[in-house]
Amino acid sequence: MTNLKDKRILLGVTGSIAAYKAADLASRLTQGGAHVDVILTRAAEGFISPLSFQSLTGKKAFTDKELWGGEAHVLHVGLGHTADLLLIAPCTANTLAKLAQGQANDLLSITALAAQCPTMVAPAMDVGMYEHPATQENVRILQERDVYFAGPGEGRMASGLVGKGRMVEPAELIGHIRCVLGIGGKLAGKKIVITAGGTQEPIDPVRFITNRSSGKQGYALAQAAVDAGAEVTLISTPTALLPPIGARLVLARTAQDVLEAVLAASTGADALIMAAAVADFRPTKVAGKKLKKRDGIPQITLEAAPDVLKKVASLKADAERPRVVVGFAAESRDLLKNASEKLSSKKLDLIVANDISAEDAGFDLDDNRVILLFADGKQEKLSLRSKFEVAEIILSQIEILLENT
Ligand code: CTP
Repeated sequence: MTNLKDKRILLGVTGSIAAYKAADLASRLTQGGAHVDVILTRAAEGFISPLSFQSLTGKKAFTDKELWGGEAHVLHVGLGHTADLLLIAPCTANTLAKLAQGQANDLLSITALAAQCPTMVAPAMDVGMYEHPATQENVRILQERDVYFAGPGEGRMASGLVGKGRMVEPAELIGHIRCVLGIGGKLAGKKIVITAGGTQEPIDPVRFITNRSSGKQGYALAQAAVDAGAEVTLISTPTALLPPIGARLVLARTAQDVLEAVLAASTGADALIMAAAVADFRPTKVAGKKLKKRDGIPQITLEAAPDVLKKVASLKADAERPRVVVGFAAESRDLLKNASEKLSSKKLDLIVANDISAEDAGFDLDDNRVILLFADGKQEKLSLRSKFEVAEIILSQIEILLENT
């Protein structure tokens, strides 16, 4: 389960055509295990009904009718005090202005003033409105007050204009929410470096040697680390995956690029997780021009690519080497024997071994079946589970290892 589980999210919806996206967002948050209370402004009710939200969250959606009801005080104070996050999405220029000025003339703005949790806004307005000096001043005031801004994104507006002002898509908003909910989590203050994907060793300008790694396990590790509040550097080969919001992405193509990026990020890091499938061999020479058929079948000779973990093992323990180093072992035979050898030869604290011959787990799939082997000889066999769940378990083990180093 992600860090949305059992969190109380107060979702304010204001009067924008993007209000329909808030329904998708409420649904995703609820499916993620969050408890979502929705407050609609009067203008929002013109775009979407409270019933839509009620149906998606299983909870009563509040409107200004409740503000003038008998429980008004209890309601706004209660909602504002028990929430883990107040998220206003979409947030109009008018609501931004009200928040900046501390106005309190409807249920949402009153609740925002009473709220004791972090506030995040996802602005949605036309280009000119967002760029107007008055709105920009309000943005600045709110940012100074530590209000988180998710977007706005660029694109085509309902008016037909193109520019900045679109509400960010719900999937991306979930990333921002997870990042903010992670603050103060169990890995808060920890610097974690994660590598992901299969390296690409060029033959010529259009061809390269690569492998079947999709990067999914590494990206799941990065998201789980952000969820837990860590400061994450994700060193990734080119993949089709979206990096988690909150992680610092460093693109690396070859084994040499990964090596350089890992060495640069390792100083002062608490943990390094080498989930990338780094090439063992690379072409000795890279042709400067595309190899042509008419020139015959090329003879490609290979040389050893740098072994990143071996280099990390040789770093000075206190200053340059991350306190905890975790490797992966993808094996098609003698899983435990080969993984144990890598554990000791690469001086790892933990190695995550997986049998790549299994058809239901591993390369490019969403699930993984792994065995954890620790430097002290302890072993833990995990049943088939999602790569995200595997990531959460690895990070819990890293947390324990960090406590003991
Ligand atoms: N690794 C590395 N540099 C390499 C190759 C691998 O740092 N050039 C890391 C991987 O990221 C992984 C671990 O070493 O965490 C084991 O990788 P794996 O490919 O299973 O083992 P190799 O050491 O490459 O040995 P072999 O391919 O012969 O099994």
